[in-house]
Amino acid sequence: MAMHRDPDFDRFEVVPLTGVLGAEIRGVDLAHDHGPETIAALKAALARHLVLAIRDQNLDPQTLHRVARSFGPFSGNPVHTPLPGLDDIVAFVREPTDRDSVVGDHWHMDLAWMPKPPGIVMLYGETIPPVGGDTCFTSLVQAAKALSPGMRRLLGQLRGVHSARGVYAVNARSGRLGLSGDQRELDRVETLHPVLCAQPETGREYLLINNVMTRFDGLTEAESRPIIDHLLATALRPEFMCRVRWQRGTLLLWNNPLVLHTAIDDYRGYRRVTYRTTVEGWTQVPAQAAD
Ligand SMILES: [Fe+2]
Repeated sequence: MAMHRDPDFDRFEVVPLTGVLGAEIRGVDLAHDHGPETIAALKAALARHLVLAIRDQNLDPQTLHRVARSFGPFSGNPVHTPLPGLDDIVAFVREPTDRDSVVGDHWHMDLAWMPKPPGIVMLYGETIPPVGGDTCFTSLVQAAKALSPGMRRLLGQLRGVHSARGVYAVNARSGRLGLSGDQRELDRVETLHPVLCAQPETGREYLLINNVMTRFDGLTEAESRPIIDHLLATALRPEFMCRVRWQRGTLLLWNNPLVLHTAIDDYRGYRRVTYRTTVEGWTQVPAQAAD
């Protein structure tokens, strides 16, 4: 039986992964076609599905750089050392003998404590284990829809404090990532974002929570924790999730502030190399006050 296709896209094939989140894309060759019409169509597909696994690409870091920059300017990355000559690309390498845990194996948002967290994150599969190492996502758009009117009113008045404390240490532990930031400076970074946000381009509402949100502005950590835990539990319902199985040549991109993601640490003994780049995001905008 043929897979269900999203009928609104005819430039390439868009096959939704679940009823609410993620799609596979086939029939586009980004190394040879990253012109404005293709990029606009991919942005439209991303706006709808939030996570896109573009299959069967043939990119090297230089080509990934060109493709990524046709989506928009680099977001900056205060943590990782980039590839020589390409300041927007980071290589994530895991060797078969590595025994430490995988970087990113917890539910998170990339660089959420930046004043403008990356709007799009792109990860390209260069060397992929035969099985394992999937990436899981959950939709913060669905999480926002699940809130009661009373919780919406409460969250509408709150801003979350997002802390970079410990980010440097986690990345340093992997031993494979060059770090460019200053640990003491990074550990002090705290950024305020509204909790209930609207995406400027689409008006889509999402619940901006993640693992580095330590408290609400004006509340203590002890007061905030039960609400944050409740919101994370809401966001982590299986019906809001999708899971992407990697192949060599898959370009995975996601709308970073609108989802949480986690790496799965189940491929010890295999080599895995991915290249990551990020596209500049936006200043987080509060959703319209609840009715
Ligand atoms: Fe990540």
